[in-house]
Amino acid sequence: MKGVVLAGGTGSRLFPLTKITNKHLLPIYNKPMIYYPIQTLVDAGIQDILIVTGGRNSGDFLRLLGNGKEFGLKHLNYTYQEGEGGIADALDLAEHFADGQKICVVLGDNIIEGNIRQAADDFRAQPEGAKILLKEVTDAWRFGVAEMKGDRIVGIEEKPKQPKSNYAVTGIYMYDGSVFEKIKKLVPSGRGELEITDVNNAFIREGTLTYSFLDGWWTDAGTFDSLRRATNLVAETESRRSGGPASEDDDE
Ligand code: DAU
Repeated sequence: MKGVVLAGGTGSRLFPLTKITNKHLLPIYNKPMIYYPIQTLVDAGIQDILIVTGGRNSGDFLRLLGNGKEFGLKHLNYTYQEGEGGIADALDLAEHFADGQKICVVLGDNIIEGNIRQAADDFRAQPEGAKILLKEVTDAWRFGVAEMKGDRIVGIEEKPKQPKSNYAVTGIYMYDGSVFEKIKKLVPSGRGELEITDVNNAFIREGTLTYSFLDGWWTDAGTFDSLRRATNLVAETESRRSGGPASEDDDE
């Protein structure tokens, strides 16, 4: 399975932090944001990765990441999204790279504590369709939200005012090669974007979408509050793993 990190868009919710640089190059504790989704893919055993960038600072990704040596990779692929037509519009740019194979897509601002190895292995063995990862949250209205009937997902609503469950659809998606046909049939939503939720609903209608629950914490980092939350979570986790304070500054 190949991997795709979506790091386009303008990051307008983080203005003025994103006036000069791309949102995915901002720091989350001790690393640039984009490091985390790349590591998520590498930890799932994925070596062939495409980064979709955009905006005015796309060259900075190349300078920062090069060929992915820091992640143990031999090569990284890059492509450029014009404008910000939505997550599905950014994903459409991966069609040539995917070349009919299965892909695992991670949004550039999604950070997880654990890993998705088991889900990725399950999807490698799944004959067709898609797989998404859910996380129980208390602020479901901020996300795509799964509507459940028993243990079946019957639909996903994007940022509903009254969520039908507490199960957020995280920004980690696995698709077979049919995803690109589905993207081609989308129409822009009310906010003028091609929505990944509409792609997932197309797989639900077809009866080929599976899901599992993500272990450990999960956060996005696209707002001031979630950016701070992401930094705190990563710092606490690093501190726990190393058995000491989050950094030398903590003692001051
Ligand atoms: O974080 C999970 C949520 O991400 C899901 O629950 C939602 O269903 C999904 O729509 C998305 O919601 P957001 O509104 O928070 O997505 P946002 O516009 O912040 O974009 C998330 C990432 O996707 C962003 O960091 C980069 C990438 N992206 C986004 C857009 C709009 C692109 O590459 N190109 C784009 O045009």
